[in-house]
Amino acid sequence: MIGSWVGNLIYEGKAKRVYRVNDELLIMEFKDEVTAFDGARRENAPGKGRLAAAQTVFFMRLLSKYGIRNHLVDWDGDRKVLVRSLKMIPIEVIVRNYAYGSFLKRMPLIKPMTKFSRPLVEFHLKSDELHDPLITSDDIIEAGLVNNDQLSEMVDTALKVNTILSNFMMSKGLTLVDFKLEFGIDKLGNVVLADELSGDTMRVLINNKHLDKELFRKGASALELVKAYEEMNRLLGIP
Ligand SMILES: Nc1ncnc2c1ncn2[C@@H]1O[C@H](COP(=O)(O)OP(=O)(O)OP(=O)(O)O)[C@@H](O)[C@H]1O
Ligand SMILES: [Mg+2]
Repeated sequence: MIGSWVGNLIYEGKAKRVYRVNDELLIMEFKDEVTAFDGARRENAPGKGRLAAAQTVFFMRLLSKYGIRNHLVDWDGDRKVLVRSLKMIPIEVIVRNYAYGSFLKRMPLIKPMTKFSRPLVEFHLKSDELHDPLITSDDIIEAGLVNNDQLSEMVDTALKVNTILSNFMMSKGLTLVDFKLEFGIDKLGNVVLADELSGDTMRVLINNKHLDKELFRKGASALELVKAYEEMNRLLGIP
């Protein structure tokens, strides 16, 4: 039972606290908080931690069924998820199906919510100070963040994740607009999908209504956000 597991706090981000259990394992504790604009807006969001943890666990398990290697080990049924400890790659991999968000700022020639002819994959350097700037694959290789094979695997995996999640959401009447992935490297050098998959890291629509953190960015209260995450879980059959 993970509930009784203990670890030392090694990191606190905006969405989660990370505890080290041992060499191999970490606990990610999802916070009952929501932030936006690099933390400039922050509110308590009772219930959000459990809902986002449930989403992450559900999607990671779904992906495992399709052979996508990921860090999930166990869940306490509440806010804590047990994961394999990885050496994180400081890159956010974004997959986009429709034009939205920061894409529109850099590419004003495409109208909002245009469906792309094929999913777009892009990379951002994980850096709050620099506001996660867009970077190229050449930048990544030149900086030695990963090698060519690892980079290809990240892109292949991101596209597979997109197909699996998009189809699943579509079967429930939802639209997956875009999402962010993070990867780590295990001791054998394998690229492993890590971090979270939740309303905080994806944009999901039902009848043009957001069920994700975009609501909060657009001014909704934390309570309204928690209600939307509850609705997402109900529609997707997430316990
Ligand atoms: N399997 C893993 N092994 C090691 N670190 C991980 C693993 N999965 C996720 N992480 C890291 O744990 C941290 C989770 O914290 P959190 O997401 O709250 O903060 P953050 O991503 O650094 O910043 P932000 O507040 O912008 O989200 C992240 O730094 C993430 O990269
Ligand atoms: Mg994060």
